[in-house]
Amino acid sequence: MESPFKPDILKGKVALLTGGGSGIGFEIATQFGKHGASVAIMGRRKQVLDSAVSTLQSQGIRVIGLEGDVRKKEDAMRVIESTIKHFGRLDILVNAAAGNFLVNAEDLSPNGFRTVMDIDSVGTFTMCHEALKYLKKGGPGRGPSSGGTILNISATLHYTASWYQIHVSAAKAAVDSITRSLALEWGTDYDIRVNGIAPGPIGDTAGMSKLAPEEIGKKREEYMPLYKLGEKWDIAMAAVYLASDAGKYINGTTLIVDGGLWLSRPRH
Ligand code: HXC
Repeated sequence: MESPFKPDILKGKVALLTGGGSGIGFEIATQFGKHGASVAIMGRRKQVLDSAVSTLQSQGIRVIGLEGDVRKKEDAMRVIESTIKHFGRLDILVNAAAGNFLVNAEDLSPNGFRTVMDIDSVGTFTMCHEALKYLKKGGPGRGPSSGGTILNISATLHYTASWYQIHVSAAKAAVDSITRSLALEWGTDYDIRVNGIAPGPIGDTAGMSKLAPEEIGKKREEYMPLYKLGEKWDIAMAAVYLASDAGKYINGTTLIVDGGLWLSRPRH
């Protein structure tokens, strides 16, 4: 689908995306690139990264792929430094890396719980923490008056309670809380805007194929306000909006992009 935004809305910006080699992260990387940004994509799987890089390059996007695991502080540091080395600055950090599986609470080991917390919550904080010196106003490659921006990809699972998702719900609740705390502290001190996006069910993603029960497809018309799954494009457009100057007064919010699903109930 054609973007409603001008193609130079992110011109001159450099974005680093964790989980940028596939799924929602990859679509955000693509749209950032198509709107003028240079992009660095981080992921654990070399093959996935290589193929993502060549797809982006074939669209004329300036891109590098950097292997790394957000659970490792040294990987976070190395990837951020490589981004700076390659592109000279960092303007937008997108934390899209996530781990997930369906399991009931009784059968989930504490280590399974911790693994998802480590990827989603601690990983998000680690990336933000390591990127701070480059995102803050006056940081390397940027002027004295403007800071960069952070986008944390969240979910709506924890607004109520979701079956078999105790670990992810807890992890995304922490992510939303990190978004607010950093928006307060780093918005005030460093002119860095920190926001989140909470996608609903998005077609053609690992989240959907791993998690979505068949019946979401079959019964969605009964309870989904817009009667359809979202597209990765919908999340990427929200990301372009929040990361661009169009969102310059938005700080500390998590934008729900789910067609109204989380608040809906079946029709009686
Ligand atoms: C129960 C499980 C499990 C499962 C792993 N564990 N899979 N427990 N059911 N299906 C437990 C293991 O037993 C182990 O605990 C601990 O978790 C760590 O497992 P590892 O396999 O060693 O972890 P690792 O290889 O690091 O893999 C991480 C992962 C994996 C999260 C388990 O699925 C992953 O890397 N996924 C990344 C890609 C992904 O899932 N993306 C989709 C995100 S979708 P013990 O106690 O045995 O040591 C998304 C959408 C959210 O986030 C919103 C939806 C609406």
